[in-house]
Amino acid sequence: MERFAETTRQTYEGWEEFYRKPVDEKLDFFRKDGRLFDVIFAQQFDRRFLDELCRLADKIRLLAKTKSGALLLSRLLPHKRAMLYFVQPSTRTFLSFQNACYLLGLRVSESRGTSTSSEVKGESPEDTIRTFASYVDLIVCRHPEAGFAEKTAWVLNQTERPVPVLNGGSGPDQHPTQALLDIYTLEREFQATGGLDGKRIAMVGDLKRGRTVRSLSYLMKNYRGVSLTFVSPEVFRMKDDIKQFLRKHGIPFTETDDFESVLPHVDAIYMTRIQNEYASDPRNETETYPDFHFRREHLARISPHCVLMHPLPRRYEIEVAVDKDPRAAYWRQERNGMWIRAALIAHIFRAEEEILAEFA
Ligand code: NCD
Repeated sequence: MERFAETTRQTYEGWEEFYRKPVDEKLDFFRKDGRLFDVIFAQQFDRRFLDELCRLADKIRLLAKTKSGALLLSRLLPHKRAMLYFVQPSTRTFLSFQNACYLLGLRVSESRGTSTSSEVKGESPEDTIRTFASYVDLIVCRHPEAGFAEKTAWVLNQTERPVPVLNGGSGPDQHPTQALLDIYTLEREFQATGGLDGKRIAMVGDLKRGRTVRSLSYLMKNYRGVSLTFVSPEVFRMKDDIKQFLRKHGIPFTETDDFESVLPHVDAIYMTRIQNEYASDPRNETETYPDFHFRREHLARISPHCVLMHPLPRRYEIEVAVDKDPRAAYWRQERNGMWIRAALIAHIFRAEEEILAEFA
């Protein structure tokens, strides 16, 4: 593919200018008829939407447990088809989107690399996406480039057949649907302690290149009294754009490289791995940063209601012996991804009323 980069990269008039605009000014472009159409940035979600989506995910989860409920769900969207275009490695995001589609009766096509598509012949990724739009009603994409999902949505929205684009991870930039499942997990885990409002959350690891912590940080503006502690090695500190956003919205945060000292003082700990794939030379990044790992002995130092999260995949960041502790929420967190993504798809295709009507 690399070989064709020069010839296929034609410029789209207006794109650069659009891309440079502040996100706040672009939000309307990704909405249609008063609701979300494309899901590109975490900044698109407000509190009302987040609360409604969590409630909807709970209902889908309940219905899916019974044969009659599962049948009802599968009859909601059999007239819709989805394309999963994942050209960057993925296990959870891909499978949870695929199964979310199955739950709602959508049929799914997939492409998990560019080596078997016409991109080998020099087709641009934008033309490839436009081709998908000819056959399906929804595109979920994951791409190593920041801004890729945004660009494809921008291109499609100017065609005769725009279909919603959901960002399943755009390089080190954003992962908005991961942020949705993280919020859903936090709200569920904090059910007995008053929900996410007022909680103290630590984010740990590679905060510079980790897209999950970036998207989740944006969502904090929707919650009252939340405070953040960024715990990272000096080289992986959270970037300034997020810190500026937090300051602008009055969300208190602190930064430290002393993980041990943070442990007893937070309500949730969100662990992340070092994102070596974005290094200019990944071979230079062999350091595992053990001071930023959660080990078995740390369990005695965190509060009894502390929620331990990780977007996964895990390497060394959490010792496997920790998994058995009830506060280890990451396996529940990954399953929550399927329910919340089903809720998101149901919302986009306006199927939520039929779901909620079952509980009226
Ligand atoms: C994350 C990602 O891809 O950004 N994984 C995921 O989607 N659950 C986190 C990671 O890869 O470290």
